[in-house]
Amino acid sequence: MTVATAQAHPNIALVKYWGKADTAANLPATGSLSMTLDIFPTTTTVRTTDDHADRVVLNGVERDGTVRERVVRFLDHVRGLAGRDDRAEVVSWNTVPSAAGLASSASGFAALAQAASEAYGLHLDTRALSRLARRGSGSAARSIIPRFAVWHAGDDERSFAEPVEAPAIEMVIATVDAGEKAVSSREAMKRTALTSPFYPAWITSTAQTLESALEACRAGDLDRLGRITETNALRMHAVIQGSDPSIRYLTPVSWSIFDAVARLRAEGLRAWATADAGPNVCVICPPEDTAVVAERIGALAEVVVARPGPGSASREPAA
Ligand code: DP6
Repeated sequence: MTVATAQAHPNIALVKYWGKADTAANLPATGSLSMTLDIFPTTTTVRTTDDHADRVVLNGVERDGTVRERVVRFLDHVRGLAGRDDRAEVVSWNTVPSAAGLASSASGFAALAQAASEAYGLHLDTRALSRLARRGSGSAARSIIPRFAVWHAGDDERSFAEPVEAPAIEMVIATVDAGEKAVSSREAMKRTALTSPFYPAWITSTAQTLESALEACRAGDLDRLGRITETNALRMHAVIQGSDPSIRYLTPVSWSIFDAVARLRAEGLRAWATADAGPNVCVICPPEDTAVVAERIGALAEVVVARPGPGSASREPAA
């Protein structure tokens, strides 16, 4: 019996991942760029056992059904790599408001990848760990990496995330609705690819957008990166809305935050909005503008400030 504990944080994409080239290995149709947060960590302990079945306990509640199946499938992959077939108990504590578009699957599968690979005796480098986390949830590949990450499109060998330098930014996260979303991102991503007529244009433009974003990062050009971030998020929501049946994640409150961010810019502040597959809106800005942005957006929704955070890391198992 071996036990390992690991912690990972969510990440928010500045250039979004929305579409797969391969569902089995979870290969993205395009690369993406993200900031790993310093808040809302997930802490996961994996203990190998002599039991005949895996146990999955999330936030103190034993899970069955699709949540458990997804974890078991992931553990099966880890066991395959390790050449072992003993079962495990997974105990995970998640501080992200679950399934509200704040990427709890990213921190969840990043922490699970690190803890499970250690519990099963795999010694993976950062790149292999990112590739492993990717199989659980695409965006988890990026939560392995501290601060800013680019996750490459490519085959199984080449599709990992790695660090990139980016201009100094902080993020004001507005929680518009912390409830469970109606259509999961996995389902919505599939529906978009199958039914949205804008999907091919989204894929070609996002590949170019990522190149421009990386150029902006290299040049330390926050204004360009900010503009790219907001436009890319709106394009993602447009391609999603083009699905049949249509899916809308942004609510009137979400839109009012995008409008407020545009007003802040008109006043000379540097702030740009983005949103994942949910109604919450994340606003990036340089550190000197964070207080004003948080105050202004705080009038519309509950806000919390995040800074660039750590990559996944081993922890001492709880007693
Ligand atoms: C909108 O990583 O949750 O947050 O790979 O199917 O698990 P799966 O999808 P997931 O999708 C994240 C989508 C997004 C954009 C992003 O994080 O890049």
